[in-house]
Amino acid sequence: MSRLNVQLNRLRLANPILVASGTFGYAGEMTAFANFSVLGGVIPKTITPQPRAGNPTPRTVETASGMLNSIGLDNDGLEAFISKHLDYLLSLGTAVIANIAGSNADEFVEMAARLSQYDKLAAIELNISCPNVSHGVDYGTDPAKTADVVSKVRAASSLPIIAKLTPNVTNIVQIAQAAADGGADAVSLVNTFQGMAINWRKRKPVLGNIIGGLSGPAIKPLALRMVWQVAKKVQIPIIGVGGISNIDDVMEFLVAGASAVQIGTANFFDPTLATRLVGQLDELLAQEGLQNVSEIVGTLKTP
Ligand code: FUM
Repeated sequence: MSRLNVQLNRLRLANPILVASGTFGYAGEMTAFANFSVLGGVIPKTITPQPRAGNPTPRTVETASGMLNSIGLDNDGLEAFISKHLDYLLSLGTAVIANIAGSNADEFVEMAARLSQYDKLAAIELNISCPNVSHGVDYGTDPAKTADVVSKVRAASSLPIIAKLTPNVTNIVQIAQAAADGGADAVSLVNTFQGMAINWRKRKPVLGNIIGGLSGPAIKPLALRMVWQVAKKVQIPIIGVGGISNIDDVMEFLVAGASAVQIGTANFFDPTLATRLVGQLDELLAQEGLQNVSEIVGTLKTP
């Protein structure tokens, strides 16, 4: 399917359909639903240097056209990821992009250096955008810090680097430009929007951590707007993420300027969606008479 090949600076993917971190576990959980080799790539749940127990429950709640989560980066830590999950992930026949979060630049660098020992990994995605932990957005809300952590990781790793950005900022273009200046190969736009749910009868927040991150179809127009704004100004590829749940959503993100997309919350209600989208995208591009998906990227006509 050469029509679907995409090149995101140093990262080459068989197609632009990825599954987003935190929505596909470590892939083993989804074996019954997905032929992973069809996908452009898999991004497992964020890993941190040490195991984390995560936030108090409840950690998720459904909202109108979306969901709030406050998982709190529950994971077994970097070494458990390597010993328990990495071999399986690398056997799937698709690009594996490790998603990492540190609480400071040194931790990001140490994790990236360790993972770079596995040259079958396709890339590293830096989670500088988790709204549910202390220090989760320290690096993603300050352009100088974004550039700093990206450049330090870039210097420590031979793998392509993707910066996953938070939408909870005043100027997303400035942060994306900082990631580009730091040497990121691409940016993922966007992580979740901070929100909350309330049980008014109990006068209590629904989530154990009070505030969580909103995802799902409810945020698609917001994510699209940010992809479009960044695509106009910043010269590195964008991976669009935010509420994609059908092929038209994929096309909208591509037209807005994304070179690839991640399917996130939709995996929870339709775990076969991402694999089906690959074939649907190929058919639609053929119908449009396009030789490669890149021909439709950023083709939005504005007055
Ligand atoms: O709370 C969480 O684990 C979510 C992570 C994220 O949004 O990056």
